[in-house]
Amino acid sequence: MSDTPNLTRRPEWTALEDHRAEGLAQLRELFATDPGRAERYVVRVGDLRVDYSKHLITDETLALLQELATATDVFGLRDAMFRGEKINLTEDRAVLHTALRAPADAVVEVDGENVVPQVHAVLDKMGRFADRVRSGEWTGHTGRRIRNVVNIGIGGSDLGPAMAYEALRAFTDRSLTLRFVSNVDGSDLHEAVRDLDPAETLFIVASKTFTTIETITNATSARSWLLNGLGGEEKAVARHFVALSTNGGKVTEFGIDPDNMFEFWDWVGGRYSYDSAIGLSLMIAIGPDRFREMLDGFRIVDEHFRTAPAQANAPLLLGLLGIWYGNFLGAQSHAVLPYSHYLSKFTAYLQQLDMESNGKSVQRDGRPVEWQTGPVVWGTPGTNGQHAYYQLIHQGTKLIPADFIGFAKPVAELSDELKAQHDLLMANLFAQGQALAFGKTPDEVRAEGVPEELVTHKTFKGNHPTTTILAKELTPSVLGQLIALYEHKVFVQGAVWNIDSFDQWGVELGKVLARRVEPALTEGAEVPGLDASTAALVAAYRELKEV
Ligand code: F6P
Repeated sequence: MSDTPNLTRRPEWTALEDHRAEGLAQLRELFATDPGRAERYVVRVGDLRVDYSKHLITDETLALLQELATATDVFGLRDAMFRGEKINLTEDRAVLHTALRAPADAVVEVDGENVVPQVHAVLDKMGRFADRVRSGEWTGHTGRRIRNVVNIGIGGSDLGPAMAYEALRAFTDRSLTLRFVSNVDGSDLHEAVRDLDPAETLFIVASKTFTTIETITNATSARSWLLNGLGGEEKAVARHFVALSTNGGKVTEFGIDPDNMFEFWDWVGGRYSYDSAIGLSLMIAIGPDRFREMLDGFRIVDEHFRTAPAQANAPLLLGLLGIWYGNFLGAQSHAVLPYSHYLSKFTAYLQQLDMESNGKSVQRDGRPVEWQTGPVVWGTPGTNGQHAYYQLIHQGTKLIPADFIGFAKPVAELSDELKAQHDLLMANLFAQGQALAFGKTPDEVRAEGVPEELVTHKTFKGNHPTTTILAKELTPSVLGQLIALYEHKVFVQGAVWNIDSFDQWGVELGKVLARRVEPALTEGAEVPGLDASTAALVAAYRELKEV
């Protein structure tokens, strides 16, 4: 049994409870009494301007939260992570996604070995391959140029490259078609390849373990599709399949040439992996130079997180704000609302990053937690959400802290008319933050001549907390900065909650049960010990299937 005091019994925790009990800060009042707040509660990191002025906090709240971070040794764990210590306790692994973007002359050791040279060797190999595909030098089995790239992977082996490809579309080679297949639902692969020519299609099979059933099943079907289309010649596979994995043995077993494998390592978590070899599809799309610019962006925020003082450390601040809402104000979820169409998959990516990392209910030593851990993360790009679920954020009964992300300039080669729409997009972002923070009082509603019976309906109580992250434009570097910001925010929260943010045992049971149940669906096999509810569902399914 650990002698680490339980979080909620620490004096720094109870001090925050007492502070909360004194009453909740009101944003209208906070801004009215502190003219410098809008500038003071801003932290700049790289190209990001992170404005946290619209949070229900005072200097005292921040000081108390920082004391909690000190007491829980967040920076000690951070340094251990950067040093390559095995802070993923349940898997006995180092957590070194930061080494994926370390400069070539850095030294980061795992078990006494500097891993940086391997990282750069793989990056160089990816770069050579990406250039060959982009230039047309790498051809398919029949000698035709590759025009389509299909990434097959799931979770961290899909969400990162799929999100980043979408985010950086304006930087992609538009003559290439990129598709991402993840779902074991056969319609995913069907739709992805139905209009493609196998002779011009490259499959990238992305799987850290190379045992994930969805990915291996889809890759097997993709191989059949390819061979059917190319006359069944097995040796075509070598020109049309490459693998991204830590598991060379399984890659070879699958029939992919080890020369066509791009390696990464067990110290890269799946949800922290898209800047490893897992980013190959993205690198083919945007080119190696842009990919490296993205890594530079990650590195800017890594350095900031490693060195900035607590008061100006953006990931620390964002992490602590989440703790304030989740642990002291009862918030259950966190909305991430990018005002960029290119960030349409950003929140889905963050869902895995945050919820798979911090969806835990035992402490690092195995004791149960007695406090809330990771929030439900959700959201879609503005302005669409405004016409759907923002109503609940404005006037519902739940406290939903939100992040707005926006850019001063549109990146794409838009017509002047479409470019002009950008101001309208951003006006909406600013207006939402304003409405959420300051609301509209009953007196203000009355002053507009609203009949008394409608006043409560048209009142906005406001005081909804938001962070606004602004940058000039969505470049590869800025995307890297944003992702690293959220990675380290998630880290901070896991450290305070004393949970292992780097394992994911919670996904295992479902996988095991699916394997057990599948024969009942396909062959009607008896599954020993199957519960009555699942047995009835299986029977109903089989009956419907036969009709
Ligand atoms: O099941 C969860 C998970 O292990 C994720 O953590 C991971 O990103 C995903 O599955 C895919 O795993 P792999 O890359 O090994 O196929």
